[in-house]
Amino acid sequence: MNIKTLDLTKLYHVGASEIAAIDRVNFEVNAGEFVAIVGPSGSGKSTLLNLIGLNDYPTSGRILIDDLDASTLSSRKRRRIRLLRMGFIFQSFNLLPTLNSLENVELPMSLLGKSREEQRQNALKLLERVGLSHRLFHRPKQMSIGEMQRVGIARALANNPEVLIADEPTGELDSKTAKEIIALLSEINESEKTTIIVATHDEKIVEVANTLYFIHDGKLKLES
Ligand SMILES: Nc1ncnc2c1ncn2[C@@H]1O[C@H](COP(=O)(O)OP(=O)(O)OP(=O)(O)O)[C@@H](O)[C@H]1O
Ligand SMILES: [Mg+2]
Repeated sequence: MNIKTLDLTKLYHVGASEIAAIDRVNFEVNAGEFVAIVGPSGSGKSTLLNLIGLNDYPTSGRILIDDLDASTLSSRKRRRIRLLRMGFIFQSFNLLPTLNSLENVELPMSLLGKSREEQRQNALKLLERVGLSHRLFHRPKQMSIGEMQRVGIARALANNPEVLIADEPTGELDSKTAKEIIALLSEINESEKTTIIVATHDEKIVEVANTLYFIHDGKLKLES
């Protein structure tokens, strides 16, 4: 998948003032790349990932997915692209607390109407892939934060996405656990050629990324 933005802008109105959370951003990511977007708190990282992940609409500018303008797509089509072609990883994991690991990973597959059997087989395979074969029936609260993020990664991979979009995936982790999660993301990028886009403060992620962008006050710059 190729994702491109053209003069992408997102304005927020707070009281009488206007904030450009994203300010004329031109960004491109190609299949197989590992891109890190680094910037301070409030610089626009989450806003940019929400736009690229078709979870939000820009105020102006365009997002092209394989040269197709995402704003011309119906919300049903946008949802299909998110579910079939993108996987999302969150800082606080966003796991459903009442579901065990298998059930959390099966969820995106059930939304596509896959059979119970296929969901279970694939969830087992993915949880093994992230090193959690011994935590299949545990619920999030019964696991460590590193294990929770591994479930989050397995869930993001459930529908075999072309791109993983991760918003501060190591933000809640201690440095040793963060290192393990980064190694896992890097390995997925290398072996499966899954594109990875990560917003982060974490220097360790910056080291494994092939492309580095800095963002400040909504303005994105390619590191040179
Ligand atoms: N729904 C909203 N309404 C108004 N302003 C918003 C909204 N969402 C974000 N903003 C503002 O847009 C700017 C960018 O926010 P964003 O959350 O994208 O930053 P961030 O880089 O992800 O920060 P952090 O590192 O703290 O997660 C900030 O000034 C923020 O206050
Ligand atoms: Mg954020």
